[in-house]
Amino acid sequence: MSQPSNFNRLAGLYRWMEWVTFGPWLGWCRCAFLPELSVCQHALVIGDGDGRFTASLLSANRSVQIDAVDASSAMLNALVRRAGPQSARIRTHHADARIWRHAHTPKNPPIDLIATHFFLDCLTTAEVQSLAASLRQASSPAAIWAISEFAVPPTPFGSLIGRPLVSALYLAFAWLTGLTVRTLPDHSAALNHSGFTLLEQRTRLGGLLVSQLWTAIPTPTAPAATENVPISIEMLQPC
Ligand SMILES: C[S@@+](CC[C@H](N)C(=O)[O-])C[C@H]1O[C@@H](n2cnc3c(N)ncnc32)[C@H](O)[C@@H]1O
Repeated sequence: MSQPSNFNRLAGLYRWMEWVTFGPWLGWCRCAFLPELSVCQHALVIGDGDGRFTASLLSANRSVQIDAVDASSAMLNALVRRAGPQSARIRTHHADARIWRHAHTPKNPPIDLIATHFFLDCLTTAEVQSLAASLRQASSPAAIWAISEFAVPPTPFGSLIGRPLVSALYLAFAWLTGLTVRTLPDHSAALNHSGFTLLEQRTRLGGLLVSQLWTAIPTPTAPAATENVPISIEMLQPC
């Protein structure tokens, strides 16, 4: 297994780099399903960087407890600072999420929300699958998983703009952080394989950005392992 990428030196600059390149678009993706997360009690937020999603979740949900896992200590410090007085509801774990296990997180309440925004693209498909399998075991049967990711849409825009842009982002992060992954993982196939079902998906920028809500609830209508047929959001039970 490769070393995790090192985002420490980007922690102070990260939000400004994002704003210059993508403006508000990534922020809109992170918060796409925030209203649906207002009843969750115990969130596991992985790779949230400087903590903008964590801060939004704490404000939207006044009772949620958050376990935040990140391989960058500087990012975790920024996350806690950003949460201000609400940081009392965060427990941080400075760890590589690919090997971190949830043995030390309290089981009561069980993890009912997993959130990964622009994090799974730091992993290979096999690593996402292994992570998803372990999270499936560690979370409640009704847990939901909120995801934001880049995507290359199967359109001329995807081929002409999306693919070169994603490749350029990987080259930039390889140089800045030592990231060794070079292509987007197929996280949807990995989650399906681990027993998660896609509930809802929203795309932005012509399909270049994807926000998804997945459920661990086994449903009679659950699609086959490689399909991504969304089921109705009404099937989402309180966390
Ligand atoms: C591309 S940044 C995304 C930050 C934030 N989620 C966002 O939406 O902008 C990836 C984050 O994941 C963390 N990370 C990368 N690989 C990791 C790993 N294997 N385990 C834990 N955290 C990791 C990095 O330190 C960084 O904070």
